[in-house]
Amino acid sequence: MLNRRAALLAAAAAMTATIAWGPGPAAAADPVKIGLILPMSGPFASTGRQIEAAARLYIQQHGAEVAGRPVELIVRDDTGTADLTKRLAQELVVNDRVAVLAGFGLTPLALSAAPIATQAKVPQVVMAAATATITEASPFIVRTSFTLPQATVPMAQWAAGNGMKKVVTLVSDYGPGIDAEKAFTDEFTAAGGTVDNLRVPLRNPDFSPFLQRVADAGPDALFVFVPSGVGAQFMKQFTERGLARSGIRLIGPGDVTDDDLLNDMGDVALDVVTSQHYSAAHDSPGNKSFVEAFKAANRGMRPNFMAVGGYDGMHLIYEALKTTGGASDGPALVEAMKGMAWESPRGPVSIDPETRDIVQNIYIRKVERVNGELYNVEFETIPAVKDPVKAAKK
Ligand code: DHB
Repeated sequence: MLNRRAALLAAAAAMTATIAWGPGPAAAADPVKIGLILPMSGPFASTGRQIEAAARLYIQQHGAEVAGRPVELIVRDDTGTADLTKRLAQELVVNDRVAVLAGFGLTPLALSAAPIATQAKVPQVVMAAATATITEASPFIVRTSFTLPQATVPMAQWAAGNGMKKVVTLVSDYGPGIDAEKAFTDEFTAAGGTVDNLRVPLRNPDFSPFLQRVADAGPDALFVFVPSGVGAQFMKQFTERGLARSGIRLIGPGDVTDDDLLNDMGDVALDVVTSQHYSAAHDSPGNKSFVEAFKAANRGMRPNFMAVGGYDGMHLIYEALKTTGGASDGPALVEAMKGMAWESPRGPVSIDPETRDIVQNIYIRKVERVNGELYNVEFETIPAVKDPVKAAKK
């Protein structure tokens, strides 16, 4: 009896203590966990390597604490397999209780996690995947990468304005490739050009038979989209098939001359014209210090457009947490992200409050040798471009 009474008293005391403490200092010291799901192995590992390095750099520069709460980054390797992305997202939400899911190296991976973000009401910050429709898969998705139509329409306009009449498109046969193909074809044919479309499998692509068809067709230019990490292999076959000397120009969104690989491609890449939101050669003080710090922290590795998506994604998460005063309530964080604007290493950016996609400059660039290294040198800027697919739906 005495024991029971003692136990009751202890329980009451514990309750009082809990009430007295409330959500005060104890709760404030709870870490904010960010679950970063990336392809860290497999054919798209360069995307994971770049984004993880950028996220860690952001934390190193801005501190592992925001709005009074420690920040904990949990990195998981989905190997580029959508089923695994989904399972990891579920585990991170249920077991680790992450406040934010982030990363998502390819379109199918981002789409597989979207239902989890919706059900759990957890923000899903898409740092890489770039098919236009992704943000429509969940109201909790906010994107800091780009969309293929956003990067491609300016390329089509540039090609039409620079004497090109006949173009063949060659794209990886999945979401972003199909987006790029459609955006280019619609815009270029509207300007009076003609286009033939070719698609190559995403996994283990062999470009040779397609390049032979391009050589036979003899267009003014070949427009190519391959995802980040695949450009070097494409360039090798482009050279081997003799296209580099054929007079057929190479154009496309900037994924093919990805900064991660560009410097090792050799002279074949010189004069390739692409359109994109980020170049390591972007001429701004903010970008110069970003590139320097990224290289210093990663044994000289040059940041690419994936890295900038990861870096800005972390910025978005940090700033949203500041706005909510450290509260990691999912809907409040997404609200805080909508309309946010900042100066990124890529230039000025903002989150479109209606679509949760990023609004950003698209640059037309040409590969040049600068101080002995190959870079995408920007020579034209199309300011504040929105995703044209969603803009057209309105
Ligand atoms: C996607 C992946 C890439 O590596 C890239 O460069 C563009 C788009 C994607 O799967 O969405």
